[in-house]
Amino acid sequence: MIERVGIVTGGGDCPGLNAVIRAVAKASAKRGWETIGFLGGYEGILEPQRYMPLDYQKLGGLLTRGGTILGTANRGRFSAKVGHGESRRLPQELIDGVKSGMQKLGIRGLVTIGGDGSLSIGQQLFEGGVPLVGVPKTIDNDLEGTVMTFGFDSAVACATDALDRLHTTAESHNRVMVLEVMGRYAGWIALYAGVAGGADVILIPEIPFTYDSICVKIQEREKADKHFTLVIVAEGAREKGGEFVTAADQVANREARLGGIAGIVAAEIENRTGKEARACVLGHLQRGGSPTNFDRALCTIFGAEAVELIAAGRYGEMVAYQGSHVSAVRITEAIGRLKTVPPTGGFVRTARALGVSLGD
Ligand code: F6P
Repeated sequence: MIERVGIVTGGGDCPGLNAVIRAVAKASAKRGWETIGFLGGYEGILEPQRYMPLDYQKLGGLLTRGGTILGTANRGRFSAKVGHGESRRLPQELIDGVKSGMQKLGIRGLVTIGGDGSLSIGQQLFEGGVPLVGVPKTIDNDLEGTVMTFGFDSAVACATDALDRLHTTAESHNRVMVLEVMGRYAGWIALYAGVAGGADVILIPEIPFTYDSICVKIQEREKADKHFTLVIVAEGAREKGGEFVTAADQVANREARLGGIAGIVAAEIENRTGKEARACVLGHLQRGGSPTNFDRALCTIFGAEAVELIAAGRYGEMVAYQGSHVSAVRITEAIGRLKTVPPTGGFVRTARALGVSLGD
């Protein structure tokens, strides 16, 4: 009987999903196994099943292609996240549906490519008897158990490029430019891009800011004959004692949609300093397009290692990047608690050592 591996992509998309799909399919084929990609997230496993066989001809060009050829969903019956990061239990009939859907196709192991939400669902499915392994995906880099998720490096590259571009126009017009980046409740993208792009002020959720502090930095720069300032703000950053800024009203059973903080920060800076300030929201540009070289390599290693885990029957584990090598951890070590930026950690210290303001 031919052995089969399944792949499912869940949650928001990000650069590198297709590179993982390619690596899984290639590594499976090398073992003489078939690979089936389920369409539209876990829903594709349920009746009426929706999937595509990932044979060799389908893999051309996937290493560099953004998005996911399988489609994905961060809404619906399989979304685990509700409200402010709380998780939801999956109804038993969905777990049973996934189990029987996999048995019907003779799938020996399922590769779940996802972030905190999809892996929380994956863990529940595993506990319900579904043989699966995880691959850590999210531009936010907020998953525990791995030093880095794939997609993060690509998002940082995009945000850094945006800062480079804002730098020149800020300087020409003697303006304050405020760039808003994604990341949900973690400031990784803002911090890495802020350091890489030479931001003067970096605002992250882990370090609540005050406008007084931001304005002191702007005035210092004025005195030093620097008449422009670059501010990068994570969408989850907030004023000391303030609330998260959301883009839309909270919808029941859905995770809050953050966004809009850059406009508020820019207006307040203009108000207080009299300097012209402009806001720029980078949005989904951070999630689109080709993965960086680093992400391509990471995705390829992750995909190959996920197949190794299936071959070894190490279900319930997730491949993880440890800085020098890729290993695996239990999925339970990665979920349930977000990996946020340590406020006194190395990268924050580096920023401060260079005189960057963290707004506190
Ligand atoms: O988790 C990835 C992410 O891009 C977050 O950084 C952002 O807050 C959210 O997803 C946006 O989700 P959506 O695409 O549903 O608006």
